[in-house]
Amino acid sequence: MMQTEQLVAQHYAHGSLEQTILNALAAAGKDLNRLTPKDLAPVDEFHVGGRLATVAFAEQFDPQPGMRLLDIGCGLGGAARYFAQEHECSVSGIDLSGEYVEVANALAARVGLGARVSCRQGSALALPFAPGSFDAVYMFHVGMNIEDKSRLFAEVRRVLAPSGRFGIYDVMRLAGGDLSYPVPWASGPESSFVAEPATYRGLLAAAGFEVLKERVRRDFALEVFAQMRAKGAAAGPAPLGLHIVMGATAAQKVKNMIGDITSGLIAPTEMICAARA
Ligand SMILES: C[S@@+](CC[C@H](N)C(=O)[O-])C[C@H]1O[C@@H](n2cnc3c(N)ncnc32)[C@H](O)[C@@H]1O
Repeated sequence: MMQTEQLVAQHYAHGSLEQTILNALAAAGKDLNRLTPKDLAPVDEFHVGGRLATVAFAEQFDPQPGMRLLDIGCGLGGAARYFAQEHECSVSGIDLSGEYVEVANALAARVGLGARVSCRQGSALALPFAPGSFDAVYMFHVGMNIEDKSRLFAEVRRVLAPSGRFGIYDVMRLAGGDLSYPVPWASGPESSFVAEPATYRGLLAAAGFEVLKERVRRDFALEVFAQMRAKGAAAGPAPLGLHIVMGATAAQKVKNMIGDITSGLIAPTEMICAARA
């Protein structure tokens, strides 16, 4: 593994994630033998806006039943299970973290989606798939961990079928200035590579993609954060949430990110692209 990839894997390492998630689900009153993908959403959608953001992205991305999808940096597989269940796609996931991939597969089996969702450990920069293996590829909040986006996009283009779609939902940079660390995706600047939308566009074009749609999701993010605050103030901290995944420094990571989104330095941004034939 490259040094950056080791840092990234370390940043996301937990140690006993599956048991911690199951304990939290039980504490939230869920029956562990009757879990649905939606029950898991508060903890398995590791990106700004969680399940709401996934549903909004899906409307733009428009996957069709039976499509073969690849989820790059699938994490715990929340989005993969969403596309499998709600859009009847078959979804492969790949992630640097062996622990995330194990938990992703265990959760998929638990909610009866084991046949449609399959995750494996590996790098987005050396995808273990043959050319043209997928009808569409997406990645949520992963590009921030990858410096060599030109290689990333070339790999995506290689595994996509001709005219396939590539959808991105990443935190991108809107203005110059230092970010505050830690953030949810990195403990420090050594493994954080937040880039401007123009950089994405240029590298995507060079890799053979045309950007069809682009949306800066800053207002959506600020609304989600306001709702989180209101909910927290009314009901206290929920047993089930991304703090479980982010560990001891969760509150600081989220606070720093919200600060930098609020000040206009960064914002979650969607791009929907088509591979040029
Ligand atoms: C913020 S999490 C998002 C997880 C998931 N996409 C989601 O939205 O719930 C970023 C994920 O990207 C993965 N990742 C980062 N760099 C990667 C790389 N080079 N190859 C594969 N996965 C990577 C991390 O291990 C982590 O699981």
